[in-house]
Amino acid sequence: MSPLPPAASTDAARVEIDLGDRAYDILIGRGLLDEAAAWRGLPRADCAVIVTNPTVASLYAGALRSALANHYRRILVVELPDGEAHKDWQTLNLIFDRLLAEGCDRKTVLFALGGGVVGDITGFAAAAYMRGVPFVQVPTTLLAQVDSSVGGKTAINHPRGKNMIGAFHQPRLVVCDLATLDSLPAREISAGLAEIIKYGPIADATFLDWIEDHIDALRACDAAALLHAVRRSCEIKAAVVAADEREADVRAILNFGHTFGHAIEAGLGYGLWLHGEAVGCGMVMAADLSARLGLVPFAFVERLRALCARAGLPVRAPRLGGAQQWLDLMRLDKKAEGGEIRFVVIESVGKAALRPAPEALVRETLAANCD
Ligand code: NAD
Ligand code: GLY
Repeated sequence: MSPLPPAASTDAARVEIDLGDRAYDILIGRGLLDEAAAWRGLPRADCAVIVTNPTVASLYAGALRSALANHYRRILVVELPDGEAHKDWQTLNLIFDRLLAEGCDRKTVLFALGGGVVGDITGFAAAAYMRGVPFVQVPTTLLAQVDSSVGGKTAINHPRGKNMIGAFHQPRLVVCDLATLDSLPAREISAGLAEIIKYGPIADATFLDWIEDHIDALRACDAAALLHAVRRSCEIKAAVVAADEREADVRAILNFGHTFGHAIEAGLGYGLWLHGEAVGCGMVMAADLSARLGLVPFAFVERLRALCARAGLPVRAPRLGGAQQWLDLMRLDKKAEGGEIRFVVIESVGKAALRPAPEALVRETLAANCD
């Protein structure tokens, strides 16, 4: 095993996301929910609203409420139904209904306490309520800590396509308490590992080597390994988002595996496969397509497949309704232009690009990877 970089031996980290007057910190460490220092500099307001779900509320809403008690006169808790299948208009409206019923003004601060589903819906509610109120991300899944809580993409799903309705709205602060991962089921840890693995092929070959060396420690939630993985993931994401906040170009690389993955999620029905599972399998398929385009050797596909399998992720895709349904679903992807699907491909380990691919090659990838 290669040693952890020295800085990872400390027990906390701060990553800044440099967006000028909308810059903010990502704080990472064990026990941050209970640490007063983590909650300095919150937006000032009379009222804070913790948006969460029953699973997470029973575990962590009390601690967050205590942390916020010195900052806000009124603290409300809104519980949304749990799960990807509820990332929709109806659930979003539950937030607006409560904010209006309670007379929440435009300074009200929303706190997203939960995984990516709660984070994405709460962020969208914050973007839209009274044309925009501040919000803070308190991610409690590995996936949310390394990806969805950072960067300001907010959305709900449409039955026809994933994350189709949304807005860019940056949080004011992200607080990743690694201790919240203690209660996360193993399947959800694996789902989070998919988004961690993603950062290697697209941006950092050394990090990919490190993940391979530490995948068992990560699955076992080793504290030092988790801190390093969350911090390095956030550093990479922060750099990409700072360079291209609204995905005019380079930010698209963060969607490696997502064109295939979103088709799996929408095609099977939201929630059957976890988002991270679909991304893991989708990355193997996107690597396969990269190899068919002559960009990387097929040995790289097998390397990535082996790592995803070791992470506990599925590496064979469902057939859905056949290749045509796959293509129809992928044409709805937000990266498609004029009906042409564009894929994030790997050009060399640590370097990705967005490009179209001949349909014949995409069909070969589907034939080679679908059960
Ligand atoms: P999730 O939000 O559904 O959470 C997974 C499950 O874990 C839920 O049942 C949740 O209640 C439970 N849970 C959360 N924290 C827990 C804890 N500490 N202990 C025990 N249980 C806990 O799923 P997710 O994987 O966190 O997020 C997936 C979502 O994130 C997808 O909708 C995806 O589209 C979105 N996403 C968004 C971005 C972005 O940039 N905005 C990036 C990646 C993913
Ligand atoms: N998860 C993709 C992005 O934030 O751009």
